[in-house]
Amino acid sequence: MSSTPDVTPENLRSSSDGAVAMIRGDHQLDATLRPSVWDDYVGQSHVKNNVQVLLSAAKKRGDMPEHILFYGPPGVGKTTLAHLVAAAMEAPLKSTSGVAIERAGDLAAILTNLEPGSILFIDEIHQLSHKIEELLYPALESGSLDIVLGKGPSARTVELALPPFMLVGATTRVAQLSSPLRSRFGGGVYQLDFYSDEDLRAIIARSAGVLGLSAPASVVEKIASRSRATPRVANALLKRVRDYAEVHERELTAEACDLACELFGIDPLGLTKDDRRYLETLLKGFKGGPAGIRALASALHEDPDTVENVYEPYLLRLGFIERSAQGRRLTQSGREYLHI
Ligand SMILES: Nc1ncnc2c1ncn2[C@@H]1O[C@H](COP(=O)(O)OP(=O)(O)OP(=O)(O)O)[C@@H](O)[C@H]1O
Ligand SMILES: [Mg+2]
Repeated sequence: MSSTPDVTPENLRSSSDGAVAMIRGDHQLDATLRPSVWDDYVGQSHVKNNVQVLLSAAKKRGDMPEHILFYGPPGVGKTTLAHLVAAAMEAPLKSTSGVAIERAGDLAAILTNLEPGSILFIDEIHQLSHKIEELLYPALESGSLDIVLGKGPSARTVELALPPFMLVGATTRVAQLSSPLRSRFGGGVYQLDFYSDEDLRAIIARSAGVLGLSAPASVVEKIASRSRATPRVANALLKRVRDYAEVHERELTAEACDLACELFGIDPLGLTKDDRRYLETLLKGFKGGPAGIRALASALHEDPDTVENVYEPYLLRLGFIERSAQGRRLTQSGREYLHI
């Protein structure tokens, strides 16, 4: 029996249309296809090598490794690395996110309940409030937490010793991280970049194997070139093309990929209707720019954060837009893409 929900021609297009859905992805698919061994983690060799040295050295000494931070666009493998770190250390992984740790009590509960030697993964760590950050510093430096007991004149601070742990932080917005927090990542601050076509092909071929699909090289190539240089998008597109072929009772061929992409509105560069809407809004609504992020986001009915972190990174990489202090501007290549 298939583990995926029923797919019909009607819901095939609407289920995950547009760049935002493709990039934000599907957590179940992420988990199914997430590499669990370092050898399956393709590319980013600079990051991989450095982190592996850090972990091996700490293991040899019998210490916890120093805290590390991964940053980069959505879907490029930050969470996957946190899982690989825990596996390499043979340590339990506790995952949370910046926005989930609202109050001092939330942080205290997480830290005091860690099994000794755990990896604490805080996703979107830039969203921690200033107050929580301040509380976290002694935990990162000396393994202790200052907690205030009681209220008013009888309140007193007690220092609580914490079990040893390693923090792995991840963020799509490194510029928003305060410099005191950033400086606490003694094990390194690592940038994950977009992937080459070759690396994407390797990821797609592996994912096809995990999903039990036989995908010819022409299919792997086609999907790679339309994946916005992002593994999550590559996996999502593979799955959607598979669904398309299944529903239409066709073989998984390059032609089926073309037809599926046409139905999904994904062009040969991997751009979707969301991207075209962005570019057209910049052109028609703002005469090609410069346009301020807030005004542009409001014209797109999106929040500025989504525009900046989901729409723009790949358009910048393609050189279709430029970002400056004045705002966003459509470049000559961006205009050519829109055929003007
Ligand atoms: N280097 C890689 N090799 C193989 N597969 C990868 C790699 N990086 C990411 N993936 C695949 O892409 C999916 C998304 O990766 P992951 O969840 O780690 O991205 P992320 O950077 O944490 O994204 P976000 O910023 O949205 O949290 C994973 O499930 C995995 O299948
Ligand atoms: Mg993640």
